[in-house]
Amino acid sequence: MKDKLLRLLDEVEAFNGNTLEEVEAYRIKLLGSKGILKDLFAEFKMVDGQEKKEIGQMLNDLRQAATEKINNLKQNLGKQSIGHQSKEDLTRPSEPLQLGARHPISIVKNQILEVFSRIGFTVSEGPEIEDDWHNFTALNLSEHHPARDMQDTFFIQRNPDMLLRTHTSSVQVRYMESHQPPIRTVSPGRVFRNEDISARAHCIFHQVEGLYIDTDVSFADLKQTLLYFTKEMFGKSKIRLRPSYFPFTEPSAEVDIYWGLQTETDYRITKGTGWLEIMGCGMVDPNVLKNVGIDTDKYSGFAFGMGIERIAMLLYQIPDIRMFYENDLRFIDQFKSVI
Ligand code: PHE
Repeated sequence: MKDKLLRLLDEVEAFNGNTLEEVEAYRIKLLGSKGILKDLFAEFKMVDGQEKKEIGQMLNDLRQAATEKINNLKQNLGKQSIGHQSKEDLTRPSEPLQLGARHPISIVKNQILEVFSRIGFTVSEGPEIEDDWHNFTALNLSEHHPARDMQDTFFIQRNPDMLLRTHTSSVQVRYMESHQPPIRTVSPGRVFRNEDISARAHCIFHQVEGLYIDTDVSFADLKQTLLYFTKEMFGKSKIRLRPSYFPFTEPSAEVDIYWGLQTETDYRITKGTGWLEIMGCGMVDPNVLKNVGIDTDKYSGFAFGMGIERIAMLLYQIPDIRMFYENDLRFIDQFKSVI
């Protein structure tokens, strides 16, 4: 037994674990509840009286040596792994965070919504895939109405009653179906028209349409609301309304703002007139109100609609509508400073 103990003592002294796992495995082998020392202590019970003292001492020495050795190794290995981590320079400034930019369509949309929210308009949204009723029929465009051709529509092939909305007027129909006047709401969203893509037109674009319904709403209210909007949005205080036609409004008008003729760009974008068309508007046709169950003896209202791309192109002098959808960072990054 003495030999065995001496051998083990040598072994403990020579042991050198490289990893914490290795050292722990060695601890279990030697000092664990089913370890070598346990067996040795069991064996020790059978040792004769003479040798008992010496061997007992040796056993204790072995246990102590093993415990110390293992603790030391563990401590060193633990330190090493912390030491390894702290090779990183924790005082070094971090990589700069790359800030994204809002898309110009979002910027302009938010500005428009903000201007209208200040005079009590709420924001309403609806589905991009619409049914015929909400996009056309309820808006006074019956099945064979020629004005349906004004908005070249993408139909869903499997169900001719479904289509991609051609304007967010469909949201206004939904809103009127579920709310009673007074109504003041603006409806932003993506719309779709089967048009050839060019610098001026795209088959996907964005609109904000507005709807105001209450007792005693007049054309003068519409004009004042639009004047307020153009002042806030463009800083321009001269507008004109040209008679126009929309099936869902009567009378209807196109709104022009006086942009001015200060610069060469002004000449170019206004074609030398100083005037720019920015939206359509009109008094909501009583047929539309009837279609959604609003009492036309009591209520009347106005509506207007504008394309966000067109306004963004004016505000930021963007020459080609396709730039909005190309996700070219050289374009998008230019809007970093705008909130
Ligand atoms: N819905 C029309 C369009 O998309 C715009 C409009 C809205 C005109 C409301 C008048 C009133 O062209």
